[in-house]
Amino acid sequence: MTSQINSFEEYKTEYARSVADPEGFWAEQAATFQWKKPWKSVLKWNFKEPDIKWFLGGKLNITENVLDRHLAARSKQTAIIWEPNDPNTKPGKITYKQLYQQVCQFANALKAQGVKKGDRVCIYMPMTPELAVAVLACARIGAIHSVVFAGFSANSVADRIKDAGCTVGDYWWHEIIAGKRKSCKAQQMDSEDPLFILYTSGSTGKPKGVVHTHGGYMVYTEYTFRNVFQYQDKEIFWCTADIGWITGHSYIIYGPLLAGATSLIFEGVPTYPDPGRFWDVIKRHKVNIFYTAPTAIRALMAAGDEWVKNRRMPSLRVLGTVGEPINEEAWYWYHEKIGKKRCPIVDTWWQTETGGIMITPIAGITPTKPCFATLPLPGVQPVLVDANGTEIIGNDVEGMLCIKYPWPSIIRTTYGDHERCRQNYFATFKNMYFTGDGVRRDHDGYYRIIGRVDDVINVSGHRIGTAEVEDAINKHEDIVESAVVGFPHDIKGQGIYAYVIVTEQITDHAAFKKQVLDIVAKEIGPIAKPDKIQIVPGLPKTRSGKIMRRIFRKIAEGDTSNLGDISTLLNPEVVEEIKMGAV
Ligand code: WT7
Repeated sequence: MTSQINSFEEYKTEYARSVADPEGFWAEQAATFQWKKPWKSVLKWNFKEPDIKWFLGGKLNITENVLDRHLAARSKQTAIIWEPNDPNTKPGKITYKQLYQQVCQFANALKAQGVKKGDRVCIYMPMTPELAVAVLACARIGAIHSVVFAGFSANSVADRIKDAGCTVGDYWWHEIIAGKRKSCKAQQMDSEDPLFILYTSGSTGKPKGVVHTHGGYMVYTEYTFRNVFQYQDKEIFWCTADIGWITGHSYIIYGPLLAGATSLIFEGVPTYPDPGRFWDVIKRHKVNIFYTAPTAIRALMAAGDEWVKNRRMPSLRVLGTVGEPINEEAWYWYHEKIGKKRCPIVDTWWQTETGGIMITPIAGITPTKPCFATLPLPGVQPVLVDANGTEIIGNDVEGMLCIKYPWPSIIRTTYGDHERCRQNYFATFKNMYFTGDGVRRDHDGYYRIIGRVDDVINVSGHRIGTAEVEDAINKHEDIVESAVVGFPHDIKGQGIYAYVIVTEQITDHAAFKKQVLDIVAKEIGPIAKPDKIQIVPGLPKTRSGKIMRRIFRKIAEGDTSNLGDISTLLNPEVVEEIKMGAV
């Protein structure tokens, strides 16, 4: 088990140590796991190519650390609690021993299908324990899992299957596990062998496959889980994310199970059968640590306090949020109504590419401030830079957030296209990993995440690239061109606003809008459906042909008082018309 910080003083000491001697620090953490062969050197890196390797030469299998090593002490302990969508269906419980057996059995089934080390396996499943089993079974035999969120459309799945060259999918579970043995030797993996690919949206093109590896990801997710939430032995941990996102990978499956915790998997949604569902589940399963997204908090807050009033949740000890900035009102509501002012809130900032939590309070230890992700974890060295890439030092400053030193679960590559990885994260600023987020550092050195500075929108904590939505919309036969931006939305954080140019007069607006929404749902998935669609006579473009998105953002925000300098536009006359037609 990795070490656990016990006081704010200890945090400061550990942080200083992690900066002065990162290799020594991470080697100590890594040494707490089971390795088949020890590593020869801790870290080799450059951010130029990039080429980043942790625990070089080390051999292991992450599932031996998730499963085998817990069997002696925890074989009868519940590893996974499953809460089905229907509250009247009996919840499921799987012990560590049973999980071990099920993972092995499915691993053998995969082998029988011809799956080998290094093969890519696409997993497209709802939120059931079988999903966790399938993920771990891939890791057991050294296959690379690529989980696709079950809310994505068939076309999105097809894109991801093609990009990763996946070989297996669509079999019936019960048929392929029938008669398979319940033990399976774990494949020996190199620290740097890929563990999984997870697709995420960027500012351009199709989603890219972020690659994480066995060694570093294991060390980092366990360390962060244990420290951020101050996990105590036997506690019940519930992260409401979908396993199809990185939050589910790192804090439903790997982090908690590596730490020997009991992890709850919920199949349903926060509002079914009523907006008290989350609180019922917490009560029923005596959840100690609860981790959710601001969008869910805002939606439940909007549903009214009566859903919380009669539900006592004495088991709760720590609350967490992730995925998007939390607004003050939601923070206080969460703190008062859910945590009864006695549970610390950890506002955790991180990304698919970072693998694990990066900037966050440590529960009950770091003094919190509403809406601040506060301070970096040990091993994380954030810097703020200006548009020229110059580091902004001191406090009370704002800039773009970069990280200047590798941590064990940093993205290694984008699958099949290393250059894209370099371009996206390591080329903007020299010798730094660029996050794409704007951030403010206050007088105490606390970090407050402002939001994306690129063309990525964050809808209910889901990351969506504007280019992807535009590509989908442009498939409509009457649409010539489109531009998509985000706008502030009370519940979702950001909504999607689409400006479209059409070939001919649209008479039935409702039907037209429905067609556009259907196309987006089919091409990407329902989460990417625009909230607003405005037909415009033209898109404001610069002389070099670039759409001036700033203008669209302002109009979508409803703030047209000062659109800034539009003199460089090729077609300034369209701006007035767009303003008038705003929806
Ligand atoms: C983007 C990453 C890994 C978490 C799930 C989302 C935004 C994430 C916070 C936070 C403000 C946040 C950032 C980031 N974000 N956490 N606590 N406060 N913003 O992962 O889909 O890779 O999105 O989510 O903008 O860049 P993701």
